[in-house]
Amino acid sequence: MFEHLPPYPCYLGRGTNGEFTTIDQAKISVMDRGFIFGDGVYEVFVVYGGQPFRLPHHMARLERSLKEMRISNPHTREQWQELVAKLVAPELIADCADSMPVNTDISSKNALIYLQITRGVALRDHVMPKDIEPTVFMMRSPLNLPSQQAREQGVACVSADDFRWEKAHIKSTSLLGSVFARQISFDVGATETVMFRRGYLSEAASSNVWVVKDGALMGVPKDNLVLEGIRFGLIEEICKAQGIPFSLRRITREEVFAADELLLTSATKEVLPITQLDGQPVGNGAHKGKPGPVYQRLYAGYQDAKIAV
Ligand code: PDD
Repeated sequence: MFEHLPPYPCYLGRGTNGEFTTIDQAKISVMDRGFIFGDGVYEVFVVYGGQPFRLPHHMARLERSLKEMRISNPHTREQWQELVAKLVAPELIADCADSMPVNTDISSKNALIYLQITRGVALRDHVMPKDIEPTVFMMRSPLNLPSQQAREQGVACVSADDFRWEKAHIKSTSLLGSVFARQISFDVGATETVMFRRGYLSEAASSNVWVVKDGALMGVPKDNLVLEGIRFGLIEEICKAQGIPFSLRRITREEVFAADELLLTSATKEVLPITQLDGQPVGNGAHKGKPGPVYQRLYAGYQDAKIAV
């Protein structure tokens, strides 16, 4: 049906009816509110060595997003776990393998899972309809982690005003603000757009941002202005284990530009050093414009956490 799409394995369901297929074959109604209004929520998580990483944390965030959106959760945690296990299972990959392009490393035990729930199918009306069945979509695609070069040299970012809505804590599929934000950095060949709301750091287009000063790590408060990344908890755990002071507080633009180190975190970036912001090198002294010592420790801790799964 959509021959330009690689046949990645996916699951499409409504209510108790669902099927595993490939994304080039999956069909949903044009009246799905996800399509009409962006009326849905999503999660992105990584599978390492066949095991979903921090799935209970993603499920807890999904539940929070659904509750805020007043969408009923179509599955219990056990049912979600089963669906994810089937999508990750090698048998499903074998079923899809015949039509896979040769260079598609979908058979790898590492993968990326995208999970989306929309409010469901109804005639167009802004009012949230009652008693419709949410639509569930999950997709498995190859996992592309940052390159060796990005790890060794860090990445360049640019800053911008945060013009998104004030419910950034909901992991909503209405992502136009994030799409516009990310395009600002893409257009100048940078990796992410670091955003500020009224002079204070919020986050990047699709990552959280961390500031290192005098050996301590700072992040922003977990409020409605940012998405609480699953790495918030993980980074705090690693800091605790390594004796790195950790705090969450409002951080000014000046503090960001005076940081010793700046870091990005997300499911796919893991933890990644920002070594240039708006064309200026980050940090001072020996590590100016280079990945710093706190990054190195957090990255090592992160790799240990992956193995512990
Ligand atoms: N983005 N902030 C925003 C706005 C995000 O979109 C993301 C994740 C994060 C980091 O969250 P986590 O640590 O749970 O990945 C922070 C995902 C990866 C995406 O939209 O593709």
